[in-house]
Amino acid sequence: MLVLGLETSCDETGVALYDSERGLLADALFSQIDLHRVYGGVVPELASRDHVKRMLPLIRQVLDEAGKQASDIDALAYTAGPGLVGALLVGASCAQALAFAWGVPAVGVHHMEGHLLAPMLEEQPPAFPFVALLVSGGHTQLVRVDGIGQYQLLGESLDDAAGEAFDKTAKLMGLNYPGGPEIAKLAEQGTPGRFAFPRPMTDRPGLDFSFSGLKTFALNTWQQCRDSGDDLDQARRDIALAFQQAVVETLTIKCKRALKQSGLNSLVIAGGVSANKALREHLERMLGEMKGKVFYARPRFCTDNGAMIAYAGCQRLLAGQHEDLAIKVQARWPMESLPAI
Ligand SMILES: Nc1ncnc2c1ncn2[C@@H]1O[C@H](COP(=O)(O)OP(=O)(O)OP(=O)(O)O)[C@@H](O)[C@H]1O
Ligand SMILES: [Mg+2]
Repeated sequence: MLVLGLETSCDETGVALYDSERGLLADALFSQIDLHRVYGGVVPELASRDHVKRMLPLIRQVLDEAGKQASDIDALAYTAGPGLVGALLVGASCAQALAFAWGVPAVGVHHMEGHLLAPMLEEQPPAFPFVALLVSGGHTQLVRVDGIGQYQLLGESLDDAAGEAFDKTAKLMGLNYPGGPEIAKLAEQGTPGRFAFPRPMTDRPGLDFSFSGLKTFALNTWQQCRDSGDDLDQARRDIALAFQQAVVETLTIKCKRALKQSGLNSLVIAGGVSANKALREHLERMLGEMKGKVFYARPRFCTDNGAMIAYAGCQRLLAGQHEDLAIKVQARWPMESLPAI
């Protein structure tokens, strides 16, 4: 089955062609980061308008790259939520219109299920069951995964998502959006041990997270550096390192707890923050000690992309699922409400 996947939940237009027999044939992405950078975050109306502009040229591009024609496509998959409603509607309308015109089915995909399944596109995919850590711009969740659509939420952030904390901490130090890659780069030149940030909610049982206090801690530390006339370039690097270490260690402690509680030694990490090298190294060390394994997608499939939507949609289409003609998207959508396949 050849599936055309469209991703438009936020600020990336992603398009991909996935073949159930041959794997990923082509994928293309247009990132709107430059468009939103001047505002320090995503402006929803501008995001929607840009998806409209980019979608058809990107579809043309992946078809050409894969040497395929419209008549070869067996089905469409599009992100139906969670995300920005206006942005989601662009992908949903486009997919439904093409499906209607081509006489093929279309399926709406849950964006976080897409992230969660992205490591399945790699050469050594994880096998069910496993624990998944979803760490993106809008989510921080620990999930027990027994199969596609068999999700049990173990814990989540009570306030900021991990990626959001990276972005806000970067912004308060005058760094560019998105902040995660900026902080990761600066942290490489940070002075270990100069600042000691807390590891929130690790001193009590449970698998929930809270990252908003770390951002406040970073703000106070930054202000102290400014007030005392410190070298601000070095202060940025040192705060970046201390902040990143705090996030990474906190995530690692909770992942270890979730694995022990579930009796599993297989961990999947997904979402933009799973591209973070320090996080991967920490988790690999921890899983090594547990004689287990950590799985993740190649960096460009950690952040938003069309390939994960084409893959997840293909699995659901193969199981016989598809939408009717009404175009429905959801800003909020609990992943546990998805049907199993
Ligand atoms: N190397 C990195 N280290 C830390 N954070 C990173 C890195 N690369 C990207 N990020 C963060 O990942 C986030 C973007 O990831 P993603 O595209 O998965 O999120 P999103 O789509 O905005 O949110 P959601 O998927 O929850 O709707 C941003 O917050 C960004 O700062
Ligand atoms: Mg995302």
